[in-house]
Amino acid sequence: MKVTISDNIRYIGVDDKTLDLFESQYVVPNGVSYNSYLILDEKTALMDTVDARKTEEWEANLKEALAGRALDYLVISHLEPDHAGSIQRLLELYPDVKLVGNAKTFSMLPQFFDIELDGRTVTVKEGESLSLGAHTLTFYMAPMVHWPEVMVTYESSEKILFSADGFGKFGALDTEEDWACEARRYYFNIVGKYGASVQALLKKAAGLDIAMICPLHGPILKENLAYHIGLYDTWSSYRPENSGVLIAYASIHGNTGKAAEKLAEILRQKGVEKVVVSDLAREDMAEVIEDAFRYDRMIVAGASYDGGVFPCMQDFLNHLVSKAYQNRKVGILENGSWGPTAGRTMKAVLETMKNVTIAEPMVTIRSTLKEENMADLEALADAMLA
Ligand code: FEO
Repeated sequence: MKVTISDNIRYIGVDDKTLDLFESQYVVPNGVSYNSYLILDEKTALMDTVDARKTEEWEANLKEALAGRALDYLVISHLEPDHAGSIQRLLELYPDVKLVGNAKTFSMLPQFFDIELDGRTVTVKEGESLSLGAHTLTFYMAPMVHWPEVMVTYESSEKILFSADGFGKFGALDTEEDWACEARRYYFNIVGKYGASVQALLKKAAGLDIAMICPLHGPILKENLAYHIGLYDTWSSYRPENSGVLIAYASIHGNTGKAAEKLAEILRQKGVEKVVVSDLAREDMAEVIEDAFRYDRMIVAGASYDGGVFPCMQDFLNHLVSKAYQNRKVGILENGSWGPTAGRTMKAVLETMKNVTIAEPMVTIRSTLKEENMADLEALADAMLA
């Protein structure tokens, strides 16, 4: 995919459209890109490598862009293998290249590679700069966005922020799709736990004059930067993005699902414009997690199972705990044919979350939704309106 940055900064990244699961857990129907950039100046600097799955293609891009020149620096923003996976190969090709990273980068790097680092590293600290000639790189530490060694780089002559995983998105670069949808799914599932770290990075970025954001995944952002940065501010502060109710259900034979759909119908009748119903057993869990964070309210509807709740609901709640779900109102509907256990199981998890208000009443149905349950459903729907 041909991507233009500027005369002296070249995109040399690659698309990966055959990956089954990103990080062995996320479906990527439109693939993913591993972005890598080359700055050509008096000195040449490569901004990250790519996943080892695509070393060969990237190596050809690099050689073409260098056109026979030597490579002076490799800036390592992030050591996760989707970006650092070709470092060993790079050093075989350009044994004199200097590796630019921070102290944490170089303490972790030997865990991944057998590379002799002596005399090969340039260790940078917060706010330090490296001149390439007309271009100057300044480094800002971004620990836990998404790993502890992460740093971002600001190039001042062209006002470019190389933002590491920040502002990344699933989807190969030739994919025509809404940025926010797949950037949100990427953000909450991959970086979501580290909202405070993202907030700290946004504060640093606010002091920079940024004309372009070059992330490690997804499109280069050149326009409407306030929109993208604003979404990152909303997401990382755990504020809901939209008004709406997500109803996530875990149904064994479909009866809990029918109750969830009925509840959605009641909510719509009561004027809730956005109600999203998701089947946790069949839909992409990462998408449902994204929606949980997107909307200001959620209802969990689960079947009782083995003295707890049906496993896909337990899994969903565990994911929400691990991604620091908070600041939302949550309603509970349980189903149990004998001794219902789903409600108390789900409630116990929700009660561990920060600033989660549990709406009353919790609704219990027995096997199937009956007329006698309708008053409770109405009452729960009313409680979700406020
Ligand atoms: Fe794209 Fe955290 O690696």
